Amino acid sequence: MPSRKIIIAIDGPAGAGKSTIAKRLAARLNFLYIDTGAMYRAVGLWALRTNTALDDMHRLEQLALAAQIELTDGGTGVRLNGEDITGLIRTQELSDAASKVSAVPGVRRALVEKQREMGEVQSVVMEGRDIGTNVFPNAQVKIYLDASVEVRAGRRLRDLQAKGESSTLAKVCAEIRDRDERDSTRSEAPLRQAEDAAYIDSSDLSPEAVEEAVLKVYRDRTSNGKAHGGTLQ
Ligand code: DC
Repeated sequence: MPSRKIIIAIDGPAGAGKSTIAKRLAARLNFLYIDTGAMYRAVGLWALRTNTALDDMHRLEQLALAAQIELTDGGTGVRLNGEDITGLIRTQELSDAASKVSAVPGVRRALVEKQREMGEVQSVVMEGRDIGTNVFPNAQVKIYLDASVEVRAGRRLRDLQAKGESSTLAKVCAEIRDRDERDSTRSEAPLRQAEDAAYIDSSDLSPEAVEEAVLKVYRDRTSNGKAHGGTLQ
């Protein structure tokens, strides 16, 4: 009997640790890792390059529909219309642009369709803001990963500094608050915890501890992974 595909949905605000955990889980379970934020960042980059106003809903929808977005290198790389844009999309400017384009209903429709197609091919760990509430409301495993604003800003600042971008904790805190506000108050699929999602606060937890907490939810909800063909070791 073919094994059933599993969707692990990981949602939460910026800097909660979603990417770290989603990548580790995908590697451990041999699932495909999908970073949906990278897809909104790709559309944001195209909009900036084409001088498209970030509130021009019609044009932004056209860009999202036309965009050929590929996730490469086990989900850690991104290509836009054939060009490798991995190194270009993790800036403050692109975080802001992605958040703005993601509020446009037509952009969301276009990208959600691509995300659902990806989840049909194999078992996935998909991270974003609306995976458990909107993209895959029937996902077997849903996690809402959170952390305090200060902890999240500290993590983001370290990431930016590692890439040679200069900023301050106060600036990153303000940027994160703005983005949280925009992502959770937009009318279309806002960031919120799905009713059946497990809530994990990563503020005082190591990545290993968060991974174990998520694996416990996975085991509980999938009969230890066995019933659905998981390969938990
Ligand atoms: O996860 P991230 O920081 O790379 O996401 C960038 C922006 O994209 C985020 O501020 C909101 C948006 N986003 C979204 O609206 N829905 C998703 N599933 C993923 C990201």
